[in-house]
Amino acid sequence: MATRCKTAILISGSGTNLQAFIDYVAGGASILELSVVLSNRPDAFGLIRASNAGIPTVCLEHGQFASRDAFDRAVAAKLDAWQPDLLVLAGFMRILSAGFVARYAGRILNIHPALLPAYPGLDTHQRVLDAGDEWHGSTVHFVTEELDGGPRILQGRLPVITGETADQLAARVQAIEHQIYPEAADWVGEGRVEFRNGETWIDGVVADEPVVHVFDRTGKKL
Ligand code: GRF
Repeated sequence: MATRCKTAILISGSGTNLQAFIDYVAGGASILELSVVLSNRPDAFGLIRASNAGIPTVCLEHGQFASRDAFDRAVAAKLDAWQPDLLVLAGFMRILSAGFVARYAGRILNIHPALLPAYPGLDTHQRVLDAGDEWHGSTVHFVTEELDGGPRILQGRLPVITGETADQLAARVQAIEHQIYPEAADWVGEGRVEFRNGETWIDGVVADEPVVHVFDRTGKKL
């Protein structure tokens, strides 16, 4: 990629991950340039975070479109104005159509709050607690047509604490997301991590397993 990686961030809600990107880029050592934030919900607090940071915002309400494809085409048409190199899904609660994914093949990232391939889909924290798992975490991956199924890049793992609630676990997972997501996106922006033939390549080598960062129960990276 070029010397700057023009990045579009897509959100639907609070945007704490968006805030993590804003803070990370403000640190000055990132290749990412946050070009635009797009939301499918007008009340997403992330839009305010973006405005506060001086990032252009776009809101397209999916309910105003006749179909998923029509919405996705409108999103792509809007994003085209910024010619983004990278799309970062940060709590964007819409499934993207095959056409959209193909248009940005290998250039869309998502973060999913589970140790994929375990627990794709919703309610991951409660499902982890119900299963009595010892470890939980979050995974940054390339987006493909398969929901939460694209090749993995970076995983943050942390121990589950006996007796904690799903909300407490979710908060601890989110805190590590804020550390791993901008880092993984930077690797992609720098070209260190690539999507090739449906797989993740790291430093020129196919990566069957993601990079793993392990955190302690307080969220400190070990
Ligand atoms: C994150 O927990 C992420 O794992 C999931 O959506 C949530 C977004 O939270 N994909 P926020 O809007 O970034 O606070």
